[in-house]
Amino acid sequence: MSERRIIYLDNNSTTKVPTEVVNAMLPFFDEIYANSSSRHRFGFLAEQAISKARKQVATLVGASYPEEIVFTSGATEAINQVIKAVLPENTKRRHIVTCQTEHKAILDVCAYAEKVLGYRVTYLPVKDNGLIDLDVLADVLSEDVALVAVMYVNNETGVIQPIQKIAEMSHRVGAICFSDYTQALGKVPVNLSQDGVDIACFNAHKFHGPKGVGGIWCTSKVQDGMRLRISPLLHGGGHEKGKRSGTLNVPAIVGMGVAAEIAFLEMESNIKKMEYLRNFFEDKIKKSIDGVKINSETAPRVCNTSNITINAIDSEALIAALCPEDEGAPWVVISNGSACSSHTIEPSYVLRAMGLSEDDAAGSIRVSLSKFTTEEEIDIAVDRISFAVKELRELAAL
Ligand SMILES: Cc1ncc(COP(=O)(O)O)c(C=O)c1O
Repeated sequence: MSERRIIYLDNNSTTKVPTEVVNAMLPFFDEIYANSSSRHRFGFLAEQAISKARKQVATLVGASYPEEIVFTSGATEAINQVIKAVLPENTKRRHIVTCQTEHKAILDVCAYAEKVLGYRVTYLPVKDNGLIDLDVLADVLSEDVALVAVMYVNNETGVIQPIQKIAEMSHRVGAICFSDYTQALGKVPVNLSQDGVDIACFNAHKFHGPKGVGGIWCTSKVQDGMRLRISPLLHGGGHEKGKRSGTLNVPAIVGMGVAAEIAFLEMESNIKKMEYLRNFFEDKIKKSIDGVKINSETAPRVCNTSNITINAIDSEALIAALCPEDEGAPWVVISNGSACSSHTIEPSYVLRAMGLSEDDAAGSIRVSLSKFTTEEEIDIAVDRISFAVKELRELAAL
């Protein structure tokens, strides 16, 4: 990259991998490059590194035992495994309850479960602040529900769902509670052994680890005399104790472990810092631009995420204007929804489910901070957003 300054405010899409994480991964490419399944001493070195990473990840997520973690290629794979493999093995019930504002990784697999596996799927609506209405959940829960899949932290709005309550309600009807924790790790203290959910998924690249690695956590608690079994989606070799076959990506798993350890140790101060800067951003943007509304302001929200609607603006045009081609001009990198679905240019379905009009949803942006974000960057970002909004509104008025 050239000299261009990048003010990166799209950390819910992915995060920077810092030097200490990269350095921890490097020896596993060209020094300890053994296969962690190999039964020679060289392989044991790789296996030891995997075992250390499993402990580091277990600590971050609050697992009771490191063995509760199964490494996967990321959250999408984990979600596919839970719905396509774990679920059919564990229950004869045929109804899945999820929510309209889930990530596409859940929604698309639920659609598959509906069309191909013959499950009935209920998509819960949300209130205008993005929270699930627990009375509506209570109404749909019955003895035919196999799985309740509700994410802990929403990737677009940062809304934190009352997952403990949702887990408790799911268990009352004997359903498995599965939650996507991808946007929570490093941004809210997580304790999966106490949250009450049965299965959770996550990835490394949202907490400054590498892309292409993640995991499933599954409780090892015995419930009603039974232990939930993690059945494989990928067969072939029996890696991860038969729960996920395929040679382990040792460098990536090591990177995930180190990123998890750092996230765990720095969590309290990082949360304080990001929350301060998020509030600073929201105060400043409200003062700088007319017609700004903070979405989900009244709901519990994760510390780093701000989703705002700007009147009479097309977010696509704004995002483009903030990354000009001109050489040397800084880029302010923001988004208008989830990176995974942003190839489809349509207003966010998450905001639409919260009752925003098509125009308001199309005029909404997401700003997501990281521990590396500075106050100076927020100052520059707000100035540039205000300037671009003014120009776009003037153009539209011509
Ligand atoms: C909430 C949520 N779930 C799932 C995913 C998919 O994760 P992965 O990139 O590891 O497949 C993402 C990331 O984009 C996400 O934000």
